[in-house]
Amino acid sequence: MAGNVFFVIIPAQKALVHAAKNKLPLDPWLGKYAGLRSYHNNYFTLPVLFIMVSNHFPSTFGHEYNWAVLTVISLGSAALKHYLNQKEKGEAEAWVLPLAVLLILTAAYITAPNLNKEKCEDIVTFSEVYPIFVERCVTCHSSQPTDDFYTTPPNGIVYDTPEDIAKLTDKIMQRVVITKTMPQNNKTGITPDERLVIKCWIEQGATLKD
Ligand code: HEC
Repeated sequence: MAGNVFFVIIPAQKALVHAAKNKLPLDPWLGKYAGLRSYHNNYFTLPVLFIMVSNHFPSTFGHEYNWAVLTVISLGSAALKHYLNQKEKGEAEAWVLPLAVLLILTAAYITAPNLNKEKCEDIVTFSEVYPIFVERCVTCHSSQPTDDFYTTPPNGIVYDTPEDIAKLTDKIMQRVVITKTMPQNNKTGITPDERLVIKCWIEQGATLKD
């Protein structure tokens, strides 16, 4: 997008202004070519808008195949823009809108929470849960994080004591078990079994007693 603006649109405009000032003949090709690049850029508007607000949708960038999710959303929203462009010119084709909707629904389907249906067979005690938090979470969520990027606890969430963990189980269920968007980008390598242990512990009442 920036390349189109810096290397084609602005130079073409400058050349046209220069020609007009010096009463030289205007080259219509310059305007047409800049217009074409600007038209290309218009296809990026919806994908770029999505990227700008995407920090509110961790199930997209936190997905294991986040690059594929971004590709599908970009194609779907560019297709939607194509439909709107065609409609403006009064030449909309029937297949474009359903294709755009289908692509966007595909992205919603891939990023939908995949509920962990495995059953909890044994009673999980806090002594099994605590080491998981120590190993997978407190590198970031502690009053003194050791993570190489986060030097203060993200969102002010700390798991320094067992009580800190027990009072935040709703959010933990959401982010670790349902949406699987924590640990962030799974930087600390939590395993599916560990997610299940956390899920069972919360479902069984999240007690701190062993
Ligand atoms: C690499 C650093 C990192 C690790 C490791 C990490 N988190 Fe996070 N966590 C973050 C960041 C950054 C945010 C804020 C952005 C967001 O909500 O996605 C966050 C937000 C959260 C939130 C949402 C808080 C709110 O206010 O809504 C919860 C819950 C959470 N983390 C739980 C955990 C749990 C449980 C673990 C371990 C299984 C964990 N995190 C591991 C970085 C991390």
